[in-house]
Amino acid sequence: MEKLNKIPEHVSIIMDGNGRWARERGKERVNGHFEGVESVRAVTESCIELGVRYLSLFAFSEENWGRPDAEVQALMSLMARAARNELPVFMEHGVRFVVLGNRERLGTELNDTIDEVSSLTAGNDRLVFILFISYSGKWDIDQAARRMAEAGADSIEPFLVTAGIPDPDLIIRTSGEKRLSNFLLWQAAYSEFVFVDTLWPDFRKDCFRAALEEFASRDRRFGKIK
Ligand code: IPE
Ligand code: IPE
Ligand code: MG
Repeated sequence: MEKLNKIPEHVSIIMDGNGRWARERGKERVNGHFEGVESVRAVTESCIELGVRYLSLFAFSEENWGRPDAEVQALMSLMARAARNELPVFMEHGVRFVVLGNRERLGTELNDTIDEVSSLTAGNDRLVFILFISYSGKWDIDQAARRMAEAGADSIEPFLVTAGIPDPDLIIRTSGEKRLSNFLLWQAAYSEFVFVDTLWPDFRKDCFRAALEEFASRDRRFGKIK
């Protein structure tokens, strides 16, 4: 195994391919989402083991509201249930739980759970675990620009929902798609990208480590000369 001589501070993942994973097995799409929760658990453990400080996951996009109602509802309940179930693990390992996105569109069950788990874990500081729910990059820039104008300010960054969180060093997308799908637009300005064919429910610790090894081999120049 290669040595990881550069650990990214913030890893962000576009978790894609749950539906295809289920279809390959002749199962309903929702089974892919269930299995995807196991991948989230595995990757979270890896971050704790390897010393990644921020893990952010694209769980539900603004565009995903356009899916059939049954799938949307299944995803909403799954996210609420998973957040509640993981609370003891978050407390044991010092994980702070944060949700970013358009909370107005979420139902009471999910919003209450988010508030509860966020406030109970607010003092934890080993890993910040961020779920992007009902999020899109254009929505974020739009709401930030509006609030910036209201405040009469001249810089947009403090108004993005990610204010105070370092930009992702590494963005991983699973399932072979090579696009951002309206995820972090502003914040991805200098991110390294790793695209893998693995479907999200199959993406476990070995895949995560391989992505970090790929990141460690990259030369980040930020426009300068070395
Ligand atoms: C990712 O898997 C989960 C969400 C976008 C909510 P998909 O549900 O997009 O799975 P595919 O892309 O259809 O296989
Ligand atoms: C991106 O996946 C959104 C999330 C992973 C939450 P999609 O499956 O919605 O993206 P497209 O439609 O293939 O671009
Ligand atoms: Mg998809």
